[in-house]
Amino acid sequence: MAREAPPDAFGNTAREYELGRPEWPEELIDRVVGELGLGADATVLDLGAGTGKLTRALVPRFARVIAVEPDGAMRTVLEEVVPGAEALFGSAGAIPLGAESVDAVFTAEAFHWFASDETVAEIARVLRPGGGLAIFWNVWFGETEPPMGDAVDAVLDEAFVRGGAPGLPKVLSGAWRQPLERSRFGPVHEAEAEREVVRDHEQWLANMLSVSSIAAQSDHDRLVLATRLRELVPDGEYRWRIRTVGYWTRLDG
Ligand SMILES: C[S@@+](CC[C@H](N)C(=O)[O-])C[C@H]1O[C@@H](n2cnc3c(N)ncnc32)[C@H](O)[C@@H]1O
Repeated sequence: MAREAPPDAFGNTAREYELGRPEWPEELIDRVVGELGLGADATVLDLGAGTGKLTRALVPRFARVIAVEPDGAMRTVLEEVVPGAEALFGSAGAIPLGAESVDAVFTAEAFHWFASDETVAEIARVLRPGGGLAIFWNVWFGETEPPMGDAVDAVLDEAFVRGGAPGLPKVLSGAWRQPLERSRFGPVHEAEAEREVVRDHEQWLANMLSVSSIAAQSDHDRLVLATRLRELVPDGEYRWRIRTVGYWTRLDG
């Protein structure tokens, strides 16, 4: 079986993650929030919150936003950039909240790392009856415009082979659905949004360095890669089309 990058890779590159990764599309968040019937008075949890890329979109929408993240480096950035959220150490297997304490659990670019019968039961434990689970992933990335060129693609391909498969194939396999199907959650619904993201040279580079299979490599290997990419990628603005999928389901009332 192909080697996989570990889910705890991200802390190595928390600053790059924050600089490079795109925000989540507002209209898709609105759609999922509406479908789950969440009002402004809701208490919500962002699970596997990272540097708070999704958390920052939840804070203006809800009365109370709790962000649970196991990695200290990611949490430090989150506390800096999203002071309106309550950041807590914890994981999907051990959420540091009481039973039936939140109206919804959100999780972005993370559920595939921890989806299991145990974590789904733990998510159900903290949700009030009828509460919602919302799951987001970026599932497709178009060619960068202007194109990066064969030399950059070759350097990245080599880095991905060295670092193991990134998380996307795990998402696309749909294996994350199985624990939900065996759980107290109802049917899973989905909607998607496509958008263009603009990245400058440093943001593009930071995004690449934050991909799990590259983030998991040694500091030396990442530095060599960053230096090589900096040489190869001309300064400028890069446009990128990204497709994002939002899934939602409700706990049995
Ligand atoms: C790709 S990042 C996504 C971060 C953020 N949600 C976002 O939208 O950018 C995945 C995050 O999941 C966290 N993670 C990994 N294993 C986890 C687990 N078992 N429970 C909760 N979070 C976990 C990682 O530390 C990392 O911050």
